[in-house]
Amino acid sequence: MVIKPRIKGSLALNAHPVGCKKAVEDQIEYVKSSTSYNGAKKVLILGASSGYGLASRISLAFGGSKADTIGVSFEKEGNGRKPGSAGWYNNIWFKEAAEKEGLVAKNFIGDAFSHEMRDEVIKYIKEEFGGEIDLLVYSLASGVRKDPDTGEVYRSQLRPKGVSITGPTFNVEKESIEELTLDPATPEDEANTIKVMGGEDWNLWVDALTEANVVSKGFQTLAYSYIGAEITRRIYREGTIGGAKEHLENTALDLNKKLKDSIGGSAHVAVKRAIVTKASAFIPIFPLYATVLFKVMEEKGIEENAIAHTHRLFTDMIFGDKMEMDDKGRIRPDSWEMREDVQREVMEIYKDITVDNFKELTDFARYKRDFMQLNGFEIDGVDYEADVDLEAMAKLRP
Ligand code: NAI
Ligand code: NA
Repeated sequence: MVIKPRIKGSLALNAHPVGCKKAVEDQIEYVKSSTSYNGAKKVLILGASSGYGLASRISLAFGGSKADTIGVSFEKEGNGRKPGSAGWYNNIWFKEAAEKEGLVAKNFIGDAFSHEMRDEVIKYIKEEFGGEIDLLVYSLASGVRKDPDTGEVYRSQLRPKGVSITGPTFNVEKESIEELTLDPATPEDEANTIKVMGGEDWNLWVDALTEANVVSKGFQTLAYSYIGAEITRRIYREGTIGGAKEHLENTALDLNKKLKDSIGGSAHVAVKRAIVTKASAFIPIFPLYATVLFKVMEEKGIEENAIAHTHRLFTDMIFGDKMEMDDKGRIRPDSWEMREDVQREVMEIYKDITVDNFKELTDFARYKRDFMQLNGFEIDGVDYEADVDLEAMAKLRP
């Protein structure tokens, strides 16, 4: 079957398995040809199949101390007629590449928020992974979470607090901008978003892992946050999602103290830069801001994609000697995005954007390419006219 991209609005409906393979290989190639570091050797990544979680896994396995990794993700399998999700294939190709180099790459597909998943992963660490991990990367992004104790399902809401806001959002399919108005969050929206994207689940994981004694002395854990600047402030940092990120950051402070006292370990949040991922495409205003950011950072020679940014976080900061930490204990690889000159120039361009001129004023082409590449399309070196044997693909296991 020849697979062509299908997009509805800003939702990608299919993935190209062979393109996903090339995208994973390109990321591996990037870290292999960059500076390496002495880092973690036994790593658990929650949210390992795409975005920052996948980039972390690739950096740690191929660009650091050749880490054995366990990845947990929620992805959809394909069949003989229909391809699976991009993350499904990313898991398969990552594992194939890692095993080729003698590394352990174990994938768990299912709900990371459940106690069952914690039990399964812990059992695996004990019985087959050497008994302990030295790093946990928490990189889940989800719109829904089922409370593992009550069974109640919570849905996060991307909304401003107190006021309604109107802002531009992309329609990738039509290559257009649409105005979107968001009503203020209810107190319930705020609480639900914290429940899904805050630190509660991270805390449950760290507690379960430490109680089961499957963490090393000096064990580290890392979760990803975002701050951003003026343009996205009311929808992101001061919105419902920002409330959840604040909760995540406070959880890091609690966990850090707990781990330090008990095993000489640590917990931190790293504030990452804006990139295009599956999750970020749905945040109003954010994608448009990101396209202007790409353009400005490119002009200044400081533009980074997910793998470059994540590899620098590990090389320079987590396992290096160029740590940038703020007074709230947050690690700040986003300092390039936040630079005063960058933000000033982004703002200057952003305020002139209209539905007619946005393709000239922003790097929309780059945004769209990044968006397509998340699902294995528009990747250099892939023959998109070639037949993909979905039957054969369906036999591959993550
Ligand atoms: P993504 O959508 O690329 O990755 C999310 C991962 O979570 C996938 O591996 C997915 O399978 C997994 N997942 C979702 N629900 C799950 C469940 N119930 N059980 C198991 N796995 C599940 O997202 P992205 O953007 O890489 O986000 C990761 C973290 O980075 C998030 O905390 C996000 O807020 C943060 N971040 C993202 C930025 C961006 O610009 N995309 C900027 C700064 C931080
Ligand atoms: Na991720």
